[in-house]
Amino acid sequence: MKSRASAPAKAILFGEHAVVYGKPAIAAAIDRRVTVTLGDSSENRVTIPSLGVDFRSESNPQGGILDYVSKALQLYHDGSPLSIQIEMEIPVGSGLGSSAALTVALIGALDGYHGRESEPGDTAARAHRVELEVQGAASPLDTTVSTYGGLVYLDSQRNVEKFDARLHDLVIAHMDHSGDTAEMVAGVAELRSRFPAVVDGIMDTVEMITLRAYRALLSNNPEPLGDLMNINQGLLDAMGVSTLELSMMVYEARRAGAAGSKITGAGGGGSIIAYCPGCAEDVAEALNRDWNAMKARFSEEGLIR
Ligand code: PMV
Repeated sequence: MKSRASAPAKAILFGEHAVVYGKPAIAAAIDRRVTVTLGDSSENRVTIPSLGVDFRSESNPQGGILDYVSKALQLYHDGSPLSIQIEMEIPVGSGLGSSAALTVALIGALDGYHGRESEPGDTAARAHRVELEVQGAASPLDTTVSTYGGLVYLDSQRNVEKFDARLHDLVIAHMDHSGDTAEMVAGVAELRSRFPAVVDGIMDTVEMITLRAYRALLSNNPEPLGDLMNINQGLLDAMGVSTLELSMMVYEARRAGAAGSKITGAGGGGSIIAYCPGCAEDVAEALNRDWNAMKARFSEEGLIR
């Protein structure tokens, strides 16, 4: 018996960190995927060629990204040994949601393996549970985007809206090392415990930025997005999640012509996103001198089984 499923990476356009405090966020699925192929086996075997992982054991796999595999198996599999092949087009720990994409794809493949039907809302909720149990804290944003694909608006009541908008000319660049999402989230919480009114004010302003960007996207007028990204970046810096290298990437993108650029994801390392109307090639080329940059194409498709 074989089963295969894949799910896309994501980039947060607006609202990271504020989303932890119940604020809205906008994220997009991008055309880099994680594909999971399951088959019968006499032992548990997990291979991830892009990471050089070839894990065989009678027990569940453990450590790093394998913790997500282990937790999903524990919750949604009957314990029989499986061969699990994982192809990843997403750099791990880059803030592009590799763990969520892996978890969603694995749950989709497990459902196929067991002949289960599942609604996207249910898949996203189960994947979010895996992320929560492995990480201790996580917003539902990553798993939602990897499940549904496209552009996703998460409102303050945690309703998910997939919406259409014309948005091109985005560039994403990542550095070699990632930030630790839990550490970054804890750092913001610590700052907030010392300066509650100040940090709450920052989160309120991020909310206004996200709402304004959402309106701009819905009306197919992306012109304000650059400035809104730059303001959002200033506030992410104020939250303490930017670094010298992230700031260098953000400013290099603007120097090369980007209308706006900001951290995408938790910060501390990882990735930036830049809005580059008419200059995506130039910005990608400039960022590629010192980092890894790509023109980001949206993936309309979320989980594919
Ligand atoms: O670095 P990522 O892609 O895991 O993004 C984290 C986004 C945060 O808002 C900082 C945390 C969360 O759970 O939403």
